[in-house]
Amino acid sequence: MEKIIWDDKFSVGVQRFDDEHKILIEMINKLLDSGDGDAQEESETVTDLITKMTDYFHHHFRSEERCMSEHDYPGYSEHCAEHSKFVERVLDFCGDNLTQSGKIKSDMAAYLGDWLTNHVLVTDMKYASFFREKGLV
Ligand SMILES: [Fe+2]
Repeated sequence: MEKIIWDDKFSVGVQRFDDEHKILIEMINKLLDSGDGDAQEESETVTDLITKMTDYFHHHFRSEERCMSEHDYPGYSEHCAEHSKFVERVLDFCGDNLTQSGKIKSDMAAYLGDWLTNHVLVTDMKYASFFREKGLV
């Protein structure tokens, strides 16, 4: 999978969410870049990257969900369900012993990249005008 390059089309108009999305993109790119070999050192790097990334996804989802809930965003439940489904899928990948297989790692990175870009462009973009009207920048 090609690296993801941030583009203004990804902007949801809320600075902190854009910043968080940029960090997630950077993390996914790092995972794409990490070695596919099975050397102990590389395995640890991949495991470490995935742990940090899943922690950051949780942090980001919480911040979006808190903000949607505070402003009574009408698409809240639907949006949260999409986040939960994603988390389940990532847990499945983690259960597949990522450190042992470069294939699973690259499949996971591809899934993360596709999911994030699609989620930002479609689902997150739905809250863009709502938050703009609420005065969030
Ligand atoms: Fe989201």
